[in-house]
Amino acid sequence: MGLGRGWYLVNARRVAGAVVTLMDLNPVPMEHTRRRLRGKGCEVRAVTGNVLDPVPDSAGIGFDSVGVNFVMHCVPGSFAEKGVAFAHFARVLAKDGTLFGSTILNQRPRTLFGRALTAAYTRVGAFNNAADDRVGLEAALRAAFAEVEITDVGDVTLFSAQRPLR
Ligand SMILES: C[S@@+](CC[C@H](N)C(=O)[O-])C[C@H]1O[C@@H](n2cnc3c(N)ncnc32)[C@H](O)[C@@H]1O
Repeated sequence: MGLGRGWYLVNARRVAGAVVTLMDLNPVPMEHTRRRLRGKGCEVRAVTGNVLDPVPDSAGIGFDSVGVNFVMHCVPGSFAEKGVAFAHFARVLAKDGTLFGSTILNQRPRTLFGRALTAAYTRVGAFNNAADDRVGLEAALRAAFAEVEITDVGDVTLFSAQRPLR
């Protein structure tokens, strides 16, 4: 979900033999990622979709994992609003599937560079994390999954969730 330049997928060690479904609001990063995955030995499918809406039926259902890296801080609203995305992901995961991702919460970045980058991205509307905090992230994940883990690495918050509730 939310592909950008597809860095994570392109550098993942275990895509060979997998069916990889790409979803993004914008077809451009999807096509870019699809091109970069050529030759990696996976079957690639793509659907246009907004994480705030239910995952389109054409994407399929019963996924082993859903990855949402560096997307939620781009999505407007607090986790009370945009956290609905986690319920949409839970609905399409297999019973033993895993949601994993990363985001940048609205905590003061540790470095000057981080602070400057956050301010610049917020000014141009690329970051929408003014109301994003750990309590909200955890509540939104726990509304959709029975098991949740959240860890900070520097200015980045990593999360994973299992046992989708539906
Ligand atoms: C910062 S990039 C993420 C890049 C990539 N996951 C990575 O870590 O390298 C954010 C991506 O999320 C997509 N995106 C933003 N809001 C979205 C939404 N509401 N639904 C689906 N995709 C969204 C953008 O089009 C963009 O491709």
